[in-house]
Amino acid sequence: MSTENTIELKKTVPQAEDFLPLLGTDYVELYVGNAKQAAYYYQQAWGFQPVAYSGLETGSKDRVSYVLQQDKIRLVLTSPIQPGGDINRHIDLHGDGVKIVALWVDDARKSYEETTKRGAKSYVEPYELNDEHGQVVLSGIHTYGETVHMFVERKNYSGPFMPGYKEYKPNFKTKETGLKYIDHMVGNVGWNEMNKWCEFYAKVMGFAQLVSFDDKDISTDYTALMSKVMSNGNGRIKFPINEPAEGKKKSQIEEYIDFYHGAGVQHIAVATDNIIETVTNLRDRGVEFLYVPEAYYDDVLDRVGEIDEDLAPLKELGVLIDRDDEGYLLQIFTKPVLDRPTMFFEIIQRKGAQSFGKGNFKALFEAIEREQNLRGTL
Ligand code: FE2
Repeated sequence: MSTENTIELKKTVPQAEDFLPLLGTDYVELYVGNAKQAAYYYQQAWGFQPVAYSGLETGSKDRVSYVLQQDKIRLVLTSPIQPGGDINRHIDLHGDGVKIVALWVDDARKSYEETTKRGAKSYVEPYELNDEHGQVVLSGIHTYGETVHMFVERKNYSGPFMPGYKEYKPNFKTKETGLKYIDHMVGNVGWNEMNKWCEFYAKVMGFAQLVSFDDKDISTDYTALMSKVMSNGNGRIKFPINEPAEGKKKSQIEEYIDFYHGAGVQHIAVATDNIIETVTNLRDRGVEFLYVPEAYYDDVLDRVGEIDEDLAPLKELGVLIDRDDEGYLLQIFTKPVLDRPTMFFEIIQRKGAQSFGKGNFKALFEAIEREQNLRGTL
């Protein structure tokens, strides 16, 4: 079933309708078992900087949250501090994982109205939070699985994060690793659910489909998946949606769904301007990346043509290379960063290319299959 590169990218004309102008990703909130230690990991290993804290000291009786930031990427790590609540149940079922993909908007009330009237299921109606730094307006809708989109309006706010948080200033300091912004965030959904969720992003949020891949594009001898990439009008928010496809063995998407117990965020792709420096740094600090066989590099330059970087450090780190008609890109994938084989990160450096590394799918999935094999879940 070696059918790679036999199907052309099926590009559709973007028709995003901007009834929901999005300024960017505001924050990504993970529900985790131990936010204090997760915050240390993301600072020490990834170079995120401390921003804000909420907990008993700020009047939060049931949860604690640490807010970290690196350039435009803001992470919120939240743990319950009492038994039996919604966050506990979420962690019990899913393990650590992304609960909220928050979107930065000018008008959280209008964002809520426009999306709910188009069929979005409400998570929380618009509400205001106020403190001495001003006002934040929030609202939220459900997306795939138990994942939520919050709309965050902060044009009248000047505090560190939002009301209810105070500045978080540990003595411990780490250097950043060159991560700049979230390039895309991928959702894994169940069998035959990809189109349903792509329609959700098109109809409810006004996104357009950039590109799609089917199991002919994305299959190895064993596993297969299908994927479509949805983008908002200004291209700042890109959400590829994956679903499993039939293969000889269990696909990585099925493994994810089995361990996450439903649909959820599979990977967060973060951009850098210097992938060699960033990945060298991350690796030295304890981030684990997927292994790429040396043979990948034997003919990669025949496939992608000339690149600015020396091949040797890319090979040494296991960075993958792909080219489209606009340029090329460099990308690498971490192993899952949680206890379960669920969420991972991608580091990506774009040199003109606006695609997602289709030429690397086979090498990438074979690398993932080696890991699945070790876990006995292939
Ligand atoms: Fe990706």
